[in-house]
Amino acid sequence: DENYEYRRLKQNQVPVKRLPDALIIGVKKCGTRALLEFLRLHPDVRAAGSEVHFFDKFYHKGFEWYRDKMPPTLEGQITMEKTPSYWVTRSAPRRVYAMNPSVKLLAVVRDPVTRAISDYTQSASKRPSLPRFEDLALVNSSAVWGGAPSVVDASWPPVRLGVYARPLRRWLRRFPRSRLLLISGERLVADPAAEMARVQEFLGLKRVITEKHFYFNSTKGFPCLLKSESRSTPHCLGKTKGRSHPYIDPNTLERLKDFYRPFNERFYQLAGMNFGWP
Ligand code: A3P
Repeated sequence: DENYEYRRLKQNQVPVKRLPDALIIGVKKCGTRALLEFLRLHPDVRAAGSEVHFFDKFYHKGFEWYRDKMPPTLEGQITMEKTPSYWVTRSAPRRVYAMNPSVKLLAVVRDPVTRAISDYTQSASKRPSLPRFEDLALVNSSAVWGGAPSVVDASWPPVRLGVYARPLRRWLRRFPRSRLLLISGERLVADPAAEMARVQEFLGLKRVITEKHFYFNSTKGFPCLLKSESRSTPHCLGKTKGRSHPYIDPNTLERLKDFYRPFNERFYQLAGMNFGWP
């Protein structure tokens, strides 16, 4: 835009590709795409378009390969990318630290029960023959006879990924708490401007993203953008973001809530924040 061109001319700068200053490291299905798209509204943020998967899949390709995946930026602009699987990649904290020990980390978290359903809904959309959520989340769930209690299958990835405490501890072994911003996925939906104010402050950005950028689309049931870098007309995130979820048996939901309660408590303690999940 005009501002950008002006600054560029004034400072006689040529944009160059740089390694990221900030990363969205997770968590899958918690609103990572929304966070990235919202951040892109800021003129001082430039982000890679798709998930780069450098610190999990392509680390062997080296930092020059990674840098080449980044958009060109001017001095003072923040380079970013988001790959939600970094959150649970054991080697990622060490590798990220090796790239830049003062990198800023962002992670969106959401009630693990809805996160699990969201994760399942995504898989089911690709595989319609997938068994019911209830049958995958609980083991013995069909053993009505004899009254065998059904227990949550903690090893099923949609359930396991909602245990946030362990990966958080791994990241905090490498990075100080002040370098990692935890964003509430619920608040990102309920009040995107307020949550984005926290994000901009954390990144040391001027508060440019405000209420003025968002409107609530009641058909979609989510906040959408009035305009963005690439489009000047109102638009929502794609069809794959904000899907409707299947009805889940309340008994299964109760079991999951009970399952997560102690893990959530542990997570709140480590995070120093209470996310208020039921
Ligand atoms: P659902 O599609 O299950 O509702 P991710 O981008 O990390 O995969 O997260 C997807 C989730 O982002 C969506 O899950 C949705 O709940 C949430 N989300 C947050 N803000 C959104 C927005 N403005 N538009 C659409 N989805 C949003």
